[in-house]
Amino acid sequence: MQIFTTVAEFRAWRKTAGYLAFVPTMGNLHEGHISLCAAAKARGGKVAVSIFVNPLQFGQGEDYQSYPRTFEEDCAKLEAAGVDALFHPTVDQLYPRVEQQYKVEPPAIQDELCGHFRPGHFRGVATVVTKLFNIVQPDSAMFGKKDYQQLKVIEGMVADLDMPVEIVPVDTGRADDGLALSSRNGYLTAEERAEAPRLYRNLKKIADALAAGATDFVQLTQAARADLENHGWRVDYVEIRDQDRLEHARPGDKRMVVLAAARLGKPRLIDNLEIEL
Ligand code: PAF
Repeated sequence: MQIFTTVAEFRAWRKTAGYLAFVPTMGNLHEGHISLCAAAKARGGKVAVSIFVNPLQFGQGEDYQSYPRTFEEDCAKLEAAGVDALFHPTVDQLYPRVEQQYKVEPPAIQDELCGHFRPGHFRGVATVVTKLFNIVQPDSAMFGKKDYQQLKVIEGMVADLDMPVEIVPVDTGRADDGLALSSRNGYLTAEERAEAPRLYRNLKKIADALAAGATDFVQLTQAARADLENHGWRVDYVEIRDQDRLEHARPGDKRMVVLAAARLGKPRLIDNLEIEL
């Protein structure tokens, strides 16, 4: 695997690469990321991964400074996954000007769900993904469904701005007890880790109820919220939305997604489940 830390070096390599599938990450790689690499590999061409903890998508008081940085271990995992190239720029490489002047502004969806609790987050994501696409120039890019709202923002951005990249959604990797794999799971104590699958279990309960024909969305989401709060969680939201535009779901909708975000001890965990009726 070749490792590049500057834009110029990566661009020179890219010219020789042919079909390129891309996996953007912030490092601290787990099985979920490796399944994104496998999906990239399955495209049949070369695979590039980026590791960059993007300051623009972290808010005041969030974990930018302490975000786990595990570069050596990450490289070993990417080698084993058969990745061809790793782009690992410094903050100065990607943001050479103190104040990045031009930003990519997602529409109103950026202020809902996670965006409501993390103002500016999706602007930061859309901006860095645009920059990475411009540098890496991939034919396709893999995004995990765990960050469902991020996936939708990127799909919308690529469609509206005619970016020549195919976005490939990849299913969420889960532990045996259902917990969605996340770098932030590392913040959980042993006791919290045992409690953490409750988030998934509540989503599953709502999904099963919807599949069985339930239509009282308020009752379903409030019951999940209450169960989590009774077990020490601080819940940001539990919501049922439509899969395509993330608008509030209505009885009769066929393609829905139930999404939740809640804090358990230090980390804020997010998860979601798609439901097709
Ligand atoms: O999902 C992530 O890890 C990040 O938001 C991404 C897409 C790499 C942008 O920094």
